[in-house]
Amino acid sequence: MAVDVPVLRDSFDPWGSHEKEDDDNGRCKACARMSRARAAAHLPMHHDLPSHVPALDVLNTSTMPPALQSRDLDDGCADAAPELLQELKHDGSILALAVSDEHIFAGTSKGEIVVWSLGTYQLVQTIQAHKRSVLCLLLSSDNKYLFSTACEPIINVWCPKTFNRIFEIYSTYDVGDVFSVAYSAQHETLYLGTQTQDIQWVSLNDASRKVSHDSADHPDKRQHRFFDSRAVGGTSTPRRMEEHYALIPRAQTVLEIDPGAIRQYAHYGWVFCMTIAKSPTVLVDPDEEVLVSGGGDGTTKLWRLHDDGPEGDDGEKVKGDIEELMVLGEDDSESVMSLVIDGSFLYAGKLRGIIELWDLDTKQKLRVIKAHDGNVNTLRMRFGLLWSAGTGGSASKHSTVHYGRDANGGSQNVNQKYQCLNRWKAHDAKILSSAVAVHQNDQLFITGANDNEVRVWRVNGMPTQADDGSDIPEDMMITSLREFVSFKTVSARPEFTEDCRKGATFLGSLFKRLGAQVEMLSTDGLHNPVVYAKFSGKLEPVEKRKRVLFYGHYDVVPADLKGGNWQTDPFKLVGQNGYLYGRGVSDNKGPIIAALYAVSDLLQAKALDSDIIFLIEGEEESGSRGFQDTIHKHKNLVGHIDYVLLANSYWLDDEVPCLTYGLRGVLHATVCIDSKHPDLHSGVDGSSMLSEPLSELTLLLSKVKDRKNHVNLPGFYDGILPVTQEEELRYDDIASILMRRNPANGPVDVLKRSLMARWREPNLTIHRYNVSGPDGSLISSHATANVSIRLVPGQEVEEVIKSLKDFLRTEFATFESDNNLTVRIDNKAEPWLGVPGNYIFRTLEEAVMRAWGPAAGDESGAVALPKNATSDETASKSRKPLYIREGGSIPPIRFLEKEFNAPAAHLPCGQASDSAHLHNERLRVENLLKSREIFSTVFRKL
Ligand code: BES
Ligand code: MN
Repeated sequence: MAVDVPVLRDSFDPWGSHEKEDDDNGRCKACARMSRARAAAHLPMHHDLPSHVPALDVLNTSTMPPALQSRDLDDGCADAAPELLQELKHDGSILALAVSDEHIFAGTSKGEIVVWSLGTYQLVQTIQAHKRSVLCLLLSSDNKYLFSTACEPIINVWCPKTFNRIFEIYSTYDVGDVFSVAYSAQHETLYLGTQTQDIQWVSLNDASRKVSHDSADHPDKRQHRFFDSRAVGGTSTPRRMEEHYALIPRAQTVLEIDPGAIRQYAHYGWVFCMTIAKSPTVLVDPDEEVLVSGGGDGTTKLWRLHDDGPEGDDGEKVKGDIEELMVLGEDDSESVMSLVIDGSFLYAGKLRGIIELWDLDTKQKLRVIKAHDGNVNTLRMRFGLLWSAGTGGSASKHSTVHYGRDANGGSQNVNQKYQCLNRWKAHDAKILSSAVAVHQNDQLFITGANDNEVRVWRVNGMPTQADDGSDIPEDMMITSLREFVSFKTVSARPEFTEDCRKGATFLGSLFKRLGAQVEMLSTDGLHNPVVYAKFSGKLEPVEKRKRVLFYGHYDVVPADLKGGNWQTDPFKLVGQNGYLYGRGVSDNKGPIIAALYAVSDLLQAKALDSDIIFLIEGEEESGSRGFQDTIHKHKNLVGHIDYVLLANSYWLDDEVPCLTYGLRGVLHATVCIDSKHPDLHSGVDGSSMLSEPLSELTLLLSKVKDRKNHVNLPGFYDGILPVTQEEELRYDDIASILMRRNPANGPVDVLKRSLMARWREPNLTIHRYNVSGPDGSLISSHATANVSIRLVPGQEVEEVIKSLKDFLRTEFATFESDNNLTVRIDNKAEPWLGVPGNYIFRTLEEAVMRAWGPAAGDESGAVALPKNATSDETASKSRKPLYIREGGSIPPIRFLEKEFNAPAAHLPCGQASDSAHLHNERLRVENLLKSREIFSTVFRKL
């Protein structure tokens, strides 16, 4: 069957300007065929798919990082449309736009370039420029040339003033459509990006490339390999010579591209977009122009430009060459549809509304923005802002790194970078092109769509969130924390399973947005997933990078509203008197967000050398169910680790910064006594002959510890390490500092005893009794008790478990009961003791001092202040953080140290009064900000 190619609808239409004749994927049949044929003939394609089809569709979605959802568009962006100055109508889709000082040029699906006057919007001229849809228009920076490309192998160069056709350029290869062009004034060379996945070039001043108008190699004279081919038994479609083809002006000069001036398979996909940038990276000389290209393979590449190329087949040197300098975005195959450069930053517009921000100095992905519904086919940088539009019909403006610079060139508020300032419905159609211009005093953003319209928007003085002092946007970090807290990620209650998943997905996409590579690690589907996120450092080679693991948990303990104890909704972040209130703000959502934004700050400052790996689990408050197995299974993904860092504890009081170097271990057990009988009436059945489960459970547990809380398990205290002299002094210091800050903490020796009892001694707690049956005169047939034991170094969890079970069984045996005893271990965690003097603690200590400490020249530190210091002076002169231990437990910390053979350290972010696990949990804003600062320093230095 021959492919009948309709006139003006004869090629792949990546810009989606036509609705008809598409196959299911919205591609033109002829071109899909062509692409597959090329792929089969030459190229090991990435995923056995036509190159422009996003590979996402064929990957196993369960291993995919969470995609940015359209809910991410719900970013509070103002939706006010700017003033629409003009609508310019035409009778074909607008696929390309360019604007000079005098004219707006629009490339159409009818192969025309329509020219309007910029000031008066009068139609100046309609040029029949190509036989088929115009795909790209580019005005050279010196305004000398207007380049046009189309769904055909001819590239034209026009005079933007006289509209004369200066050059007609063709390639002797079948290039298919030419999606993009870039022009280097430095090299006087035009580069073209093609459907055949190559980049070709031609120097406009190369006289040797001139050919006559009726050269035999001209595409008009050649048989088209695909469109004119005959399938088995088919006939060739006659070439149509429509009248309007004759309207295409004759070019002054015809150039034939040197067959050697080609970089085949520049991308493993169609070359959708290109631009020239002057020294966008430290890798090239100042003022050196480089070519940037974006492809259907999802990568963006930087190319160094050379004047001399290799020797061609004829023995002559090819004029010009390109050399690959950098590839960005290897792991991702979402087509790059548009690009724009801003200093050393590159924005890539992709499918599904995504804009990625890359730093070309460090090759790091800084941000992923969900900007639109629909593909981002056009991006522009102007007025210090990023302008974009999507095939869903919306246009938007984003603040950028340059936005809000102060007089010295510094950024005023880094948190407000890359924020959507306005998004509006610009067309009820697919926006395929845009342009930016200044006319007189008006700043203009111009959009072209497949509704056959060009719209000119006046965007100066456009209302923005940032301009409006009354509504200054919140620090992005706090906005993120607000959203994070809104997910009811309560791991202990099955009714919140769905909320936990959503919270994990939110976190994953937040990491992704800020530049991480993300994976959701499933815990065999039984428990909440672990969010894995990796930020890559810039230090090359990779082996030189340190790798820091940050552990945290996104689950929270329940927030019971019964009793009216909460003054605010626990799942709504509320700011009051310098504090943020909400369940999980301190334990552990706030510290995670602070660490995340610290990494993002470093990325933006090009100062992230090391790889930072986040492992954020969703079961910590339930004993980290499934964590060890999951991490062990994904050990290769996590890779080698140098340091483990966590931030899930609190200061000793509300003033003195601390570092935590020890945690107790824990085991949770459920002790059950079951009767063979059902629940019975205590009057009817109760007698001295009956063994009652609850009575026996009470009696049994009463044997486990005595009135003074001494635990009666044999050998329970045997392994505990004696207090060393150094330790003794440390406790003295801590107690005296706390006393000085607040004498009500004393007397000092009682305080010291209490700290030791909580930090370095074990304890057994009976939490709760549960019984079967309703209230009333009942002998329950089942009774259970929840018991936990906090453990300290020197106690082996497994030994304690064994001794607890043995003890309970032996004691129960003496009851000679008819009932049955079971002891279940619900979870366990080993104690952890860090090494205060090691590198990670020293680094943390310096960072804490830098963030919190004032008073230069005070070397003495918090533990050795002048005796006569007043309490205010004490606060302000405290420089060294207090090294403390904690009575609480975090199951994974010791496991991570052992699994990765790396030392762990713990930065407490919150104050003693944070009320973690209690009602009105909170975190001081200052602590959040300082923690971000501390993490930044630590991630930079480690
Ligand atoms: N953040 C705490 C651990 C903690 C508590 C550190 C107090 C410092 C002081 C953590 O989120 C937690 O609650 N851990 C549980 C673990 C248990 C469920 C296995 C604990 O300590 O009870
Ligand atoms: Mn907790």
